[in-house]
Amino acid sequence: MKISTSHMLPAFTALALASPIALPHPQEVHHLFTRQDIQTPINASLPNVTIFATGGTIASQGSSNTQTVGYQVGLGVQQLVDAVPEILNISNIAGYQISNVGSGSINETILVRLASMINAELEKEDIAGVVITHGTDSLEETAFFMESVVNSSKPVVCVGAMRPATALSADGPLNLLQAVTLASTPNARGRGTMVTLNDRIGSAFYTTKNNANSLDTFYSTEAGQLGFFINQVPYFYYAPATPIGVTHFPLTNSTDLAQVDILYAHQDMDPTLFNASYAAGAQGIVFAGMGAGGLSSVARLAAEELFNATGLPMVASHRSPDGFVPSGSEGFAIASGFLNPQKARILLQLALTAGYGYEEIKEAFALGYPAP
Ligand SMILES: *[C@@H]1O[C@H](CO)[C@@H](O)[C@H](O)[C@H]1NC(C)=O
Ligand SMILES: *[C@@H]1O[C@H](CO)[C@@H](O)[C@H](O)[C@H]1NC(C)=O
Ligand SMILES: *[C@@H]1O[C@H](CO)[C@@H](O)[C@H](O)[C@H]1NC(C)=O
Ligand SMILES: *[C@@H]1O[C@H](CO)[C@@H](O)[C@H](O)[C@H]1NC(C)=O
Ligand SMILES: *[C@@H]1O[C@H](CO)[C@@H](O)[C@H](O)[C@H]1NC(C)=O
Ligand SMILES: *[C@@H]1O[C@H](CO)[C@@H](O)[C@H](O)[C@H]1NC(C)=O
Ligand SMILES: *[C@@H]1O[C@H](CO)[C@@H](O)[C@H](O)[C@H]1NC(C)=O
Ligand SMILES: *[C@@H]1O[C@H](CO)[C@@H](O)[C@H](O)[C@H]1NC(C)=O
Repeated sequence: MKISTSHMLPAFTALALASPIALPHPQEVHHLFTRQDIQTPINASLPNVTIFATGGTIASQGSSNTQTVGYQVGLGVQQLVDAVPEILNISNIAGYQISNVGSGSINETILVRLASMINAELEKEDIAGVVITHGTDSLEETAFFMESVVNSSKPVVCVGAMRPATALSADGPLNLLQAVTLASTPNARGRGTMVTLNDRIGSAFYTTKNNANSLDTFYSTEAGQLGFFINQVPYFYYAPATPIGVTHFPLTNSTDLAQVDILYAHQDMDPTLFNASYAAGAQGIVFAGMGAGGLSSVARLAAEELFNATGLPMVASHRSPDGFVPSGSEGFAIASGFLNPQKARILLQLALTAGYGYEEIKEAFALGYPAP
């Protein structure tokens, strides 16, 4: 499943110096991977950063400056950059409009193509780093996906906003300025994919959205932060390091990733869900277990029967926001370690897509919590 990304990509370099293209009407921004949408004038002494815009609250407008729920996605990458002219004093920006959707609608087609484009972009010598603007709801999934498939030490920075662009105290513009700053900072290299919102810099491997509504929602309680912005300058707590246990997968040409479902454990969980998921085509199941990966005895029996009958890989994760599932807690199931269900799902998808068998999958998860 090894690929050469250069074969997959249209010749963006030919477009790279085209003058800015007129903005599509916000409602029409649905094109995928078509062309470079913006290129600001080049100042050769500034670093070059490419923004990949996917939609989300950061690109949304409400009907009033007090509306902070129920707003519409619609701003294009040009409008995002236009809102923060300060960005052009620190970098030259190229921008691609990848999609313009809420992050709940980001799917495997978008993820795989986005990753291919980022890999190709970061191979260019004069690119310092890239920024992905994204809705916050599934931002951690895209960030974890990029962590797993982007093969570069240059920074990949995922950013979003909790308030639409029209809101009083919109957080998007400053978040975007910080994201571009981070992507162009030499000291941000070698830290894997990062997530930045609300002044915090976190690792894609651990950072999660902790609150559905509040501004201060992205952080990692136990693993902590990588750094913090003071007066728009990123300060890091540690020297560059990537998270323990990241498996780097080569991208495939196929945007068809393995189907993996997540089942949520709870009191009186319906045991037939495991078979239903398998019957619907799941090639793997992650369950958001109770405590450290637990299931009710009835659900556990059903899951184990399915495993015995089919060998379907199942990963035990935790429904608690934070925590660890140790190896062996559910015999047949592979332990997710620190990974929450949505990140465990992506790792399982990538492993299955790469053709890993049960033992290799187990090893890939175990890399996240090496024996002392
Ligand atoms: C990917 O697609 C390109 C162009 O179609 C092809 O040359 C290459 O062999 C493909 N790679 C794989 C791994 O299928
Ligand atoms: C280019 O960037 C440098 C470094 O920030 C700055 O000193 C210079 O004024 C810029 N040149 C132009 C033409 O804006
Ligand atoms: C930014 O890109 C331009 C055009 O390719 C290049 O001349 C310049 O050296 C780049 N800036 C840096 C800091 O690499
Ligand atoms: C960009 O930098 C110049 C020179 O320092 C300054 O005059 C200008 O106000 C800056 N523009 C913005 C939008 O910060
Ligand atoms: C993913 O979303 C894009 C844009 O909405 C769409 O074109 C594509 O077909 C979707 N892919 C899948 C697998 O649903
Ligand atoms: C990453 O790139 C290096 C060369 O820079 C290459 O040797 C390695 O095989 C690549 N890894 C993957 C997973 O593509
Ligand atoms: C699954 O198979 C294992 C190993 O053969 C066996 O010990 C276990 O009882 C089986 N579980 C169920 C629910 O059939
Ligand atoms: C689930 O499917 C397996 C294999 O087809 C079967 O052995 C098992 O009885 C089924 N379990 C339930 C709860 O229907």
